[in-house]
Amino acid sequence: MTQTSNLNAEQSGQFKIGGDLSVTRLGFGAMRITGKGIWGEPEDHDESIRVLKRLPELGVDFIDTADSYGPYVSEYLIAEGLAPYSSGSVIATKGGLTRHGPDVWPPLGRPEYLRQCVLMSLRRLKIDQIPLWQLHRIDSKVPREEQFGVMKAMQQEGLIRHLGLSEVSVEEIKAAQQVFEVTTVQNLYNLVVRQSEDVLDYCEAQNIGFIPWFPLAGGNLAKPGGILDDLSKKYEATTSQLALAWVLKRSAVMLPIPGTSKVKHLEENVAAAAITLSDEDFNALSEQGKAEAAKQ
Ligand SMILES: NC(=O)c1ccc[n+]([C@@H]2O[C@H](COP(=O)([O-])OP(=O)(O)OC[C@H]3O[C@@H](n4cnc5c(N)ncnc54)[C@H](OP(=O)(O)O)[C@@H]3O)[C@@H](O)[C@H]2O)c1
Repeated sequence: MTQTSNLNAEQSGQFKIGGDLSVTRLGFGAMRITGKGIWGEPEDHDESIRVLKRLPELGVDFIDTADSYGPYVSEYLIAEGLAPYSSGSVIATKGGLTRHGPDVWPPLGRPEYLRQCVLMSLRRLKIDQIPLWQLHRIDSKVPREEQFGVMKAMQQEGLIRHLGLSEVSVEEIKAAQQVFEVTTVQNLYNLVVRQSEDVLDYCEAQNIGFIPWFPLAGGNLAKPGGILDDLSKKYEATTSQLALAWVLKRSAVMLPIPGTSKVKHLEENVAAAAITLSDEDFNALSEQGKAEAAKQ
């Protein structure tokens, strides 16, 4: 039932990060090619490499990672599978979180640590400049101007091309914009988790790329009898594909990065780029998703 023919992520359209770095809107999140709890090596190293090598074949050129995924494992695998990136992959990485064990991610935003994050990501990814570097979290124990300041300095030094933020409010984006051009924002967002709606609207108004993480979720709407389940028959698609198609239609600045460790799942996710929801179905999903979100 899953559509996997005519697979090409380019059907999701293009977005220019910072007005000059063009990427295909449907990207890939490389957090899942690590061990349980995003800690250590993946269960199946060779399948992770196959996933990465399949990306350019499927037209996926925007790859999100972080030094803390593994830690380091995701960046090393990306370099193993794709360096020297002759297919034109755009690697977006992040820094600013330390790792003390599975699922444990204490932030550390001291400027000298953020600088080390960037220098080490460059080395692991085998590149001279990071196309997009995102502050994984603003560390509340360090003045945010110091964190923003070192980001700007590293951009001016040429270590980073474009700068982004993760898990931020509109107020925090505006504060960062006083120091550097914010080109992307990466927040938790999907059909049934909508607390970042105001951030998305702000990003749209400012032409900032909005990277929704955990984009495949449909919650109760995907259960038997739910609207996603009903529509899956009409569109001959899975509920996850429809949730992704909804995210893509929600805004032209939306850059979803579904993550997987399996080629089969990657192909299913890319197939969502070919789904065009009718306005009626899109609106019905929007309303029911909002109602679901309000219950949480
Ligand atoms: N900025 C942040 O704080 C932050 C936080 C979390 C994530 N992220 C980024 O966002 C990306 C996406 O987030 P996410 O991984 O949490 O959410 P997601 O992409 O919505 O979901 C990933 C999960 O769904 C499964 N999956 C993927 N495709 C599937 C398919 N077609 N059928 C069945 N199961 C499927 C994966 O398992 P399998 O491996 O078995 O396919 C994995 O468990 C991450 O890779 C990461 O780059 C950022």
